[in-house]
Amino acid sequence: MRNRIPLQLLGHDKYLEMRAGARVVEQDEHGEKVLLLPDGTYFKLFRRKRVLTSAAWKPYAQRFVENAAALHRLGIPCPQVLKHYRIPAISRDAVHYLPLEGETIRQVIAGGLGEARADALRHQLLEFIHHIHSLGIFFRSAHLGNIVLTPENTLGLIDISDLRISWFRLGRFRRRRNLRHVLRYRDDREWLRRSIEWARLDK
Ligand SMILES: Nc1ncnc2c1ncn2[C@@H]1O[C@H](COP(=O)(O)OP(=O)(O)O)[C@@H](O)[C@H]1O
Ligand SMILES: [Mg+2]
Repeated sequence: MRNRIPLQLLGHDKYLEMRAGARVVEQDEHGEKVLLLPDGTYFKLFRRKRVLTSAAWKPYAQRFVENAAALHRLGIPCPQVLKHYRIPAISRDAVHYLPLEGETIRQVIAGGLGEARADALRHQLLEFIHHIHSLGIFFRSAHLGNIVLTPENTLGLIDISDLRISWFRLGRFRRRRNLRHVLRYRDDREWLRRSIEWARLDK
């Protein structure tokens, strides 16, 4: 089961050994962000920010770890954290996790799906977002590349650092704001707007 995951120090040599043969899945101008290791597990790197941002309070890797545990308790599919590391040599924290099985909705769309399936998926997505909102979850990184359709045909979340869970269901205002997040990328929005219920939300 998912017990508390301790933060472990990882030396540079150990890190290089771990990541040997990894495929870089995401990177930006600061470097590598997400690695897929040869054994099929993921390794997500987080920059340690020195300045006074909210990340100084609670590092993003730690948020990832805590959110995974909380989502699991709430029954929302998400990656299963294996380890939580600090890697001083590269000024990064890292979370090593088992992927959430399935494909992101963006990948599902790119793979091509019929209009009837697409419409069902749009509806399922809206229901899912209503559901997480009723659980008090505000998923800031809500977009179709961060929501996964699992082989069990349920939806789940990846990229879970930027997510807040409150004790109460979200109010109207925050629900609305979060739905706007889902509609913020052009391609996602175009796809979603093909259903009446999403088009109605996007006014
Ligand atoms: N738990 C996971 N399950 C499946 N795929 C994942 C998982 N984590 C990451 N990926 C893959 O890596 C990509 C980037 O991961 P993500 O956590 O969204 O990083 P970023 O912060 O760069 O958006 C995803 O779009 C997905 O293809
Ligand atoms: Mg992402």
